[in-house]
Amino acid sequence: MVRGKFVTFEGCEGSGKSTQLKLLAAYLEREGVTFVMTREPGGSPIAEQIRGIILDGSNTAMCDECEAMLYAAARIQHLREKVIPALESGKLVICDRYVDSSLAYQGVARGLGLEYVADINKKAFELCTPDLTVFLDIAPDKAFVRKNGADLNDRMEKQGLDFHRRVYGGYLKLLDEYPRICAVECNGTEQDTCGNIVALLKEKGIID
Ligand code: TYD
Repeated sequence: MVRGKFVTFEGCEGSGKSTQLKLLAAYLEREGVTFVMTREPGGSPIAEQIRGIILDGSNTAMCDECEAMLYAAARIQHLREKVIPALESGKLVICDRYVDSSLAYQGVARGLGLEYVADINKKAFELCTPDLTVFLDIAPDKAFVRKNGADLNDRMEKQGLDFHRRVYGGYLKLLDEYPRICAVECNGTEQDTCGNIVALLKEKGIID
């Protein structure tokens, strides 16, 4: 059995990732492609419990290293329980966020450094390197306006605009460095963006 392809989606808060993933799922279903769509942090029962701890707005005392390690812990559990078995059965796996989120949010925006974050995610990355990472390219200033502001019960969303600008800067740095990351313009309609994503998946040989 040929291992399936692993595609990850990245972007800032309000980049329209969830909407795009829904549109893409509908497209793939219409085309009869077998795929698994999942998300981080979470995607499996234990990882979803860790997600609850990370995003709980009342966990204000959480230090940056703990946050980074919880994301990494949820990640490896999700890989072992769900992503790897699906890839090994030949399925296309599409994951909403992956290691690049940790690099941009914890490595750059929190200031832990790319090396530290890459280190704690080394095993995950070795087990599952994305074949393609789709970056929905919209600056946080625009994205928050589009989404009508941040959700203040969410520990990550309630970080200020400066934090999210640093996240975006982090993504641009990664985009420069890793050819597997491709930016998709999302200034047009939702359907336009979906068309751009499908075209990219075809161009990269992920789907026919
Ligand atoms: P979620 O509600 O899934 O946000 P979104 O719809 O924007 O993907 O929450 C995930 C949050 O966790 C989001 O703010 C990004 C953040 N995050 C990190 O900081 N590091 C990570 O490694 C991952 C996977 C997510």
